[in-house]
Amino acid sequence: KIPVIIDCDTGTDDAWAIVLANSSDKLDIRALTAVNGNVELKHTGPNNLNLREYLNIDCRVALGADRPVIGGVNPIPDVHGENGLGGVELPKAKRDFDEKYAWDVIAEEAERAAGELVILAVGPLTNIAITFLKHPEAKKNIKRIVMMGGAFGTGNTNPYAEFNIWIDPHACDIVFKSGVPITMVGLDATRMTTLTGQEQEALLTQPTKIDLLLRGMRKYFIESHKAMGRPDAVTLHDALAVAAVIDPTVLHTEKYYVVCETKSSQSVGQTVVDFKGHLHREPNVDVAMSADKEKFVQMLRDCIACYAQ
Ligand code: BDR
Ligand code: CA
Repeated sequence: KIPVIIDCDTGTDDAWAIVLANSSDKLDIRALTAVNGNVELKHTGPNNLNLREYLNIDCRVALGADRPVIGGVNPIPDVHGENGLGGVELPKAKRDFDEKYAWDVIAEEAERAAGELVILAVGPLTNIAITFLKHPEAKKNIKRIVMMGGAFGTGNTNPYAEFNIWIDPHACDIVFKSGVPITMVGLDATRMTTLTGQEQEALLTQPTKIDLLLRGMRKYFIESHKAMGRPDAVTLHDALAVAAVIDPTVLHTEKYYVVCETKSSQSVGQTVVDFKGHLHREPNVDVAMSADKEKFVQMLRDCIACYAQ
């Protein structure tokens, strides 16, 4: 099994990512580490704590950063509902957080996994950047960071920035310059896997042990999209990053030098992919150019079957 840490700002699609990872016999979840992002840490932390028990995952759960490495908490548009899980109230966890912070847990688990650990970073990269600043030796023990974030095309927060990177561009800059192998699962790929309302319904036909979560989030998608006057199509961005660790062929990737824009007043958080080699730098990121939607949907079907009643 591949040892993984899921660093997340849980979040509806983060929850889907955890559900998918937990269903796979290829992954061994060593920790869930929470970061500020979709909602504040006071929600993302408890969401992870509750999910560990709800999904019966045997792993550590740690709190990480409550703000970006530079600057304060940005006002965030309400995409995932006030508590991050679209208002779904999971049973309150009995067990508490790890006594250590996310960056210390990541460094410890990286050492324990002796070079095999894969970090699934599906929120802002703050915790990963702090890990590298505080424990530089951890870099050599991390096999790869598979991150959901960035875009080489259009953004979803400013014209070119994707949300996770926009929240903490300096953290992304640190991670891109770390020398650790990176797979960037950006909007260009995740948007290819957008699920229509009908496709979501087709996934949720059989009763599962986690209907409270899955059907609850689906209900939220329907209601929130209706309130915005939009069709209830949903992109489970973070789950695609997990899928790519379970089965890398779900993505087509190409290797390029990628740098994060940290200064621009208009496109801060843009992940600039040097397709033509203008910057004369060695490639540092495997960029997801496209995703295989049919394969991804099949993985979601298999995942849901694991939780069938
Ligand atoms: C990313 O931002 C968050 O809203 C999602 O959880 C995902 O990680 C998509 O831009
Ligand atoms: Ca996320």
